[in-house]
Amino acid sequence: MYSGFFSDNCAGVLPEIMNSLISENNGFSRPYGHDQTTEEAKKILKKHLGDAEVNFMLTGTGANVALIASVLRPFQGVICTDTAHINVDECGAPERFTSCKLLTVPSYNGKLTPEDITRYSHCSDFEHNVQPAMVSISQATEAGSLYTVDEVKEIARITHENGMYLHMDGARIINAACAMNKTIGQITGELGVDILSLGGTKAGMMFGEAAVFFNKQLAKDFKYIRKQSMQLLSKFRFVAAQFKRMFEDDLWFRAASHANSMAAYLGRELENIEGVKLSSTPEVNAVFAQIPRKAVDEIINEFGFYIWNEKINEIRLMTNFATDKKDIDAFISKLKEIMKK
Ligand SMILES: Cc1ncc(COP(=O)(O)O)c(C=O)c1O
Repeated sequence: MYSGFFSDNCAGVLPEIMNSLISENNGFSRPYGHDQTTEEAKKILKKHLGDAEVNFMLTGTGANVALIASVLRPFQGVICTDTAHINVDECGAPERFTSCKLLTVPSYNGKLTPEDITRYSHCSDFEHNVQPAMVSISQATEAGSLYTVDEVKEIARITHENGMYLHMDGARIINAACAMNKTIGQITGELGVDILSLGGTKAGMMFGEAAVFFNKQLAKDFKYIRKQSMQLLSKFRFVAAQFKRMFEDDLWFRAASHANSMAAYLGRELENIEGVKLSSTPEVNAVFAQIPRKAVDEIINEFGFYIWNEKINEIRLMTNFATDKKDIDAFISKLKEIMKK
């Protein structure tokens, strides 16, 4: 069975990243991120992020949880969409480890709107209610959509106007920056994002993410929270080596560009099949399509993917840096054959 469409972390590791791990596997250095490679990687990342404090992490869930924990107190809450990864795909970790409630709003194509930010305003200053104190948005969203520059700016403005902080879950921020032809800093810190979970794994690293503070005052206690969150890796230099290689030239852009263009191609091919409906035009590396149930049941034996919405027979197909056009063509040709029956 072809498993490449399941997720963007189904692929292996970019060869350049693998080589960076091999090169790092040399000699000795101080553990826990007090090493030369970590310093160099942070310097390189600053060129992409602007003035920010970067902390390497192991997982995206860990980055989200530790960032929330470092900013909020247990009686405060995070406004996010009902489809947000922190709400549906982290096994309740944000609520368990931060004691902060997630205050969900219905998503529109994966996004929340500026109006959603004030939806919980009536709770403010009332001791019976959780106090809304953070807004969390995902870029790209779990639905494969992108917030525009103006949308993020407006969300940041209203968030701050209401005395809250803006968190961005950037598990796919590299795909987003590539699709928008901007640096990561231009679509995060420059627009008013306070804290960012910066994804590396889905972009082609073996493992490793980062917790980024554009609002550096919020980072004061982060080193303690990262340790308590069990995200302090003694051999952090191997995460640093990967980030350093990813961002020292345009590798991040080339890898994401391939993933995004493969999704665009897959979307166009699907659109041409009678009886198949694209849920939306792919904006990054995710394709959502509605396919008759009979066809889903047949093709899923040969090509793995997630059924996203059972009610409307919507499936999700992810592409990544290693997606081969030949596999997309094989999928399309099989689907056409099934649809003709
Ligand atoms: C939007 C989003 N956030 C965060 C994550 C982080 O996940 P993990 O904890 O598996 O690294 C993912 C991975 O699927 C994701 O899609």
